[in-house]
Amino acid sequence: MIIANWKSNIVDINQWTHDFHDEYIVNERLQSTIFGVAPPSLYIEKMRRMEQSHFAFDDGELGCQEVLCGVQDVDHSYGSRTGAISVDMVIDTGCNFAIIGHSERRDLFNEDNDLIKEKLKSLKNKVMAVLCIGETKEENDKGITKDVLKQQLDIVKEVELDQSFTVAYEPVWAIGSGLTPQPKDINEIHKYIKDVVQSNSANKLIPRVLYGGSVTDKNAESFFMEEFVDGALVGGASLDGKTFANIVNIYNSTK
Ligand code: PGA
Repeated sequence: MIIANWKSNIVDINQWTHDFHDEYIVNERLQSTIFGVAPPSLYIEKMRRMEQSHFAFDDGELGCQEVLCGVQDVDHSYGSRTGAISVDMVIDTGCNFAIIGHSERRDLFNEDNDLIKEKLKSLKNKVMAVLCIGETKEENDKGITKDVLKQQLDIVKEVELDQSFTVAYEPVWAIGSGLTPQPKDINEIHKYIKDVVQSNSANKLIPRVLYGGSVTDKNAESFFMEEFVDGALVGGASLDGKTFANIVNIYNSTK
């Protein structure tokens, strides 16, 4: 699974879709490839209209089973909550997934584990959750990465997780910096995340784990070659339709 996170950037959706379409290589062998885009919520309707005219959902022209549209965050409640986007609104606009716990939300909007747990619970059985976790540079330097991740994963304790539940491992120091951990280190962390979720969740789910943080079409292959890397969450490099299509193509040819 490959997910584009456009954050608060304006993207020419028409151009992006054309570029993606030009570059994307149909892969008939891999009918199950899933990729998704999380545009700013204001542009979801536009994105979906564009998808419908460019992406062949039904005749399989793209060789993809699903093209998902998602939100970059969601509110855990609804009603008198000015500016918030509820889970039912996400469903109403036809979106399939919600990113929660992104480090920018934790850091800039003071979101803590308790709130992120509420969000996870509100998505249950309705919308696929993509839970972001990751350590800071200082935590990495101190060698406490696994402890930090384990603590962030506390929110799945005794929770019955949906089969679609997905974790994105995004070291904070790798986001937008051009720096990344070594692929073998990412692989080890992904295995650890799978083990922690499996032993903590009520239904012993082994989640899909994506890597995020400075993924480009230049380094994607080195990550996708690793056994426990199930895809990527891509920020900066997803703003260009061609580059994003290339990352999806690389995933298709590697996995
Ligand atoms: P980046 O962002 O690819 O620009 O590093 C990833 C993310 O924040 O999800």
